[in-house]
Amino acid sequence: MYNTFCIIHFVLYICCVKKKNVIENPFQLKGYIGPNYFCDRENELARLILNAKNGVNTTLLSVRRMGKTGLIHHVFNQFKSDKKWKTIYIDIYATQNLGQFTNELASGILEVFPHTNSVGKKFMTLVKGLSPVISYDSLTGNPSIAFSFAQPKQYEQSIKGLFNFLNSQSQNVLVAIDEFQQIGNYPEKNTEAILRTIIQSLTNVSFIFSGSHKHLLAEMFNSSKRPFFSSTQMLHLDAIENEKYTIFIKKLFQSKGKKINDESIEFILYWTRTHTYYTQALCNRIYSMDIKSIEKESVLSACNDILKEQEPIFFQYRNLLTSSQWKLLKAIGKEDEVYQPTAQDFIFKYRLGTAGGIRRGLESLLKKEMIYRKESEKGGYYLVYDCFLSRWLERV
Ligand SMILES: Nc1ncnc2c1ncn2[C@@H]1O[C@H](COP(=O)(O)OP(=O)(O)OP(=O)(O)O)[C@@H](O)[C@H]1O
Ligand SMILES: [Mg+2]
Repeated sequence: MYNTFCIIHFVLYICCVKKKNVIENPFQLKGYIGPNYFCDRENELARLILNAKNGVNTTLLSVRRMGKTGLIHHVFNQFKSDKKWKTIYIDIYATQNLGQFTNELASGILEVFPHTNSVGKKFMTLVKGLSPVISYDSLTGNPSIAFSFAQPKQYEQSIKGLFNFLNSQSQNVLVAIDEFQQIGNYPEKNTEAILRTIIQSLTNVSFIFSGSHKHLLAEMFNSSKRPFFSSTQMLHLDAIENEKYTIFIKKLFQSKGKKINDESIEFILYWTRTHTYYTQALCNRIYSMDIKSIEKESVLSACNDILKEQEPIFFQYRNLLTSSQWKLLKAIGKEDEVYQPTAQDFIFKYRLGTAGGIRRGLESLLKKEMIYRKESEKGGYYLVYDCFLSRWLERV
């Protein structure tokens, strides 16, 4: 018993120490730590809250690492003090079938309605009727639920049961399903139809469906042939405005007794394309340099350190591509933005072969998520997906 107490005490201590360290550097990379460390997204936040309160489901889309998951937690944070609402977050990136989806959903619900309170007890009674395997995390003691049905139909019934449970609560529920495009990979090809039918019948539960595979999600929600057609409002997450990010960066450095000049911030935003993760990562690194007054020289040195550190990963990328794909990627990286990849001058400058070969190369680089296509007023253009890789390619 004493040993158990000691272990719990130790775990709590580690958590506290960790938490303290987390706040030490205000530019966090490992998830949401509170509104003071979260930049802007005011319009998106207002839209998501309004939608939830009006029973409108939202599909949140952006390229990777732009801040979808962070925004979901920012929205949830706003609902925290509202007794009329409960929020449930599930990430289905690692799920491969309807069964695993059901397990994630049940575990997500259990986290919010723990088995120690009366609603949680009701939930456990419901779940136990479905003969699950309930296991407990050895460190945190948190339970997780796994069903093992022989028939997909049984999972369908369970999902219905789980959502109906949420729907019958006296509070409203906002459910966020992150990496939603994953359901397109399930072997149960009717997953979309199953979910759509269940979700449509819920009056007390709103949804945020989030993901980064724009074309997969856009097709799922915009094609008239698909079950989710026109059932949600689309919300695209773009880069945060430079002006707002500038104020945020300055404020966070200042809050820790550091000064940073405008030239440095301007360079940070340019070098990271104001792509949230990369901007945060660079600021995190600069902050950790223990300099009181930051100027461009220190920023450049932090950029070099990051690229040097990541070099082994970049070499790995090269090993995963054919030499012509690598050549094309390098050319895109060197140009930064490529509007016309099959134009003669681009082909000639980097000796890229034929237009047909480039088209095939683009297709496979897009599929591998090594590049992405961004739309702008001047038309669509290609960029290297990983901003740090792009900056490294400029130099090699
Ligand atoms: N508005 C913000 N202000 C400050 N930091 C942010 C903001 N949004 C996101 N971040 C940070 O940026 C990083 C990337 O964000 P996040 O993981 O939310 O992106 P994502 O779009 O969900 O990425 P993925 O598609 O890979 O899941 C995280 O470290 C997160 O903490
Ligand atoms: Mg995410």
